[in-house]
This record gives sequence, structure tokens and C-alpha cells, in this order.
Amino acid sequence: MKNFEHTLVTDQQTNQQDLNQQFFEDVMAGLTASPKYLEAKYFYDAAGDELFQEIMNAPEYYPTNCELEIFTEQTEALAQAIMADGSPFDLIELGAGDAMKSAHLLRHLLDKQITFTYVPIDISGHVINYLNETLPQTLPGLQLTGLTGDYFDMLKEAAQLSERRKVVLFLGSNIGNMPVADAEGFCEEMRKHLSIGDSVLIGVDLKKDPRTVLAAYNDAQGFTRQFNLNLLTRINRELQANFNLDQFEHYPTYDPETGACKSYLISLSDQQVNFCDETILFKKDEYIYMEISQKYTVEQTNQMAADAGFKPVHYFIDSKSWFLDSVWLAV
Ligand code: TRP
Repeated sequence: MKNFEHTLVTDQQTNQQDLNQQFFEDVMAGLTASPKYLEAKYFYDAAGDELFQEIMNAPEYYPTNCELEIFTEQTEALAQAIMADGSPFDLIELGAGDAMKSAHLLRHLLDKQITFTYVPIDISGHVINYLNETLPQTLPGLQLTGLTGDYFDMLKEAAQLSERRKVVLFLGSNIGNMPVADAEGFCEEMRKHLSIGDSVLIGVDLKKDPRTVLAAYNDAQGFTRQFNLNLLTRINRELQANFNLDQFEHYPTYDPETGACKSYLISLSDQQVNFCDETILFKKDEYIYMEISQKYTVEQTNQMAADAGFKPVHYFIDSKSWFLDSVWLAV
């Protein structure tokens, strides 16, 4: 047991170094590209995790509440859908965050004395540590194996944990954090890591009044703005850059036709930023593309499922019809 623990710590340290190196390479690639971009997965350091909590509590930010409503009001139906034929399963959550929504489902499954292991996966070690500490207390009896890292690396690791049927939770419209073509590729890749009879419970933000969408990414209290700027703070701190945060402005947009909601940081002046040995030049009005939050129709999600080798078998929609949680069966 001691040896095992030791191995685990060493693995985690190596893992952390790999992640730091990866962060550096990804930021360098993004800031030397034209147009410039930064990867949204890096928003979630400790400060970013807190800001994201604030975003989720902001009145304009509807997706979390809509999905939470599905998880609180339709818990039994969700449980039935993932229990399927009743065989034991591993419940793997990609991008678990604070697991606030899934906790309702987990508690329900525990109450029903269903056999399963919960395997939360998150890029943020901070998040996984938090879940490892809190979940055994709030959900006594829960079998838990948290994994820190990129989704597919960890999905591969999760697949090796047991022979059981896999149910993957991919909530919070995380799929929307990719442009459509990447999302299609992601679903195909996810299918490759699964076997026939496995399933995915996927949360998707639906197309709706464009003003409602845009407001959710432009909250009046400015948490979304701070969240975007915090990535520059993180790069300053972790990669010794010298971004001047006063010289960048948050610019959110939503296109109802494509369903793409995008955020940018706009450079307010001609300026240069030092980043390791590189000098990054910004023209006035030049933008850094920060993130996309893609919205879909139900029909579009069905098509995406079918193209990737899944059959949509259940639909759970909130009372406003703003958000969809769909169960896709690997076929
Ligand atoms: N991308 C997630 C979403 O679509 C979370 C999010 C909300 C987000 N606002 C953001 C990510 C701003 C980056 C920047 O809801």
C-alpha cells in the first residue's frame, strides 16, 4: 500500500511538470499564431475556478441553472436511463468541476444502492483534490477515483480501471467549448474509447433568443470579463510574462445563425508583451480569440451523435427548453 501511494505521488508530480510544459507550449503557439488565440481549458486555475463559480451564480448565466433543474427535477428518469440494463458501471465525468449537478445523480444512485464507481476527470488538479476531500463526506459510501489531466488520456486510464460498462458524463455544455468540426471529432474520438453498450450523458446548450445567450457571456457584474483577463494574470504568474491587464478589453459576441458565442480580448494600443525569450507584438485593435460556446438545435445534436456512432436514446430538457441532456448509446 505504501509503495502504491508513493508511486501515485511521483506520477502526480511528473504529471504536473508535463502539464506546466504543455501550458507553456500551448500559450506560445497561441500568441505567435495569426490570429492570436489562447486555449479556454487554461481558464481554470484556482482564481479561475472561483470566478467561474461567480459566473455560474450571476443572474444572466442560465446554462448551469437549466441543467441543474434537469438534475434535480428529473433525477429518477436520469438514473433509469444510465442504469439501462441494470449491469454495474463506472460513471466517468469529463470536466467534473465542482460536481454540483452530478452530485444529485450520485446521491440518488447511492440511495438506490446501485453498484458503481464515480471517476471524475478534470484538467484542474485543484478541482480533483477538492472532490477527493469533499465528496466522501457529502456522499458517504461513494466509490471514488479522481483523475487529473486531459480528457482522452484520462479516459484511456479510466477504461483500464475495470471491465465494467462505462457511462460518461459530459455536462455543462462542455461540448460547446469547441467549434463544430472539433466537437464532431471529439464525439468520434470519445466513441473510439468506448464499447458497444457504453453510453454518454451529454449536456448541450440549445439555440434560443440571441439576447439571452449574449447576456450570459457578458454579465453586468463583470465576472466573465475578469475570468477572461485572469488567463493573462495566470500567464504572467506561471510563465513570467508581463501583460498589462488595463490594455486589454473583453469583447463577447453571439451569431444566432451559426450558434457561435465567442469572446475576445482586444488590445487597446500598440504594445509589446514579453513572454519568456519572445516579444509578442500587439497592434491596437488586434484581438486574442479566447473562447467559443457553441449552441445547437436538438436535431443538430442528433446528427452529431449518429455521425460519431451513437444512437440518442433519451432526452431531458428543462422547463424553458433552453438546455438538453441527452443519453447517447454507443452502437
Ligand atoms: N464555456 C462555458 C460556457 O459556455 C463556460 C464559460 C462561461 C466560459 N463563460 C465563459 C468560458 C467565458 C470562458 C470564458 O458556458
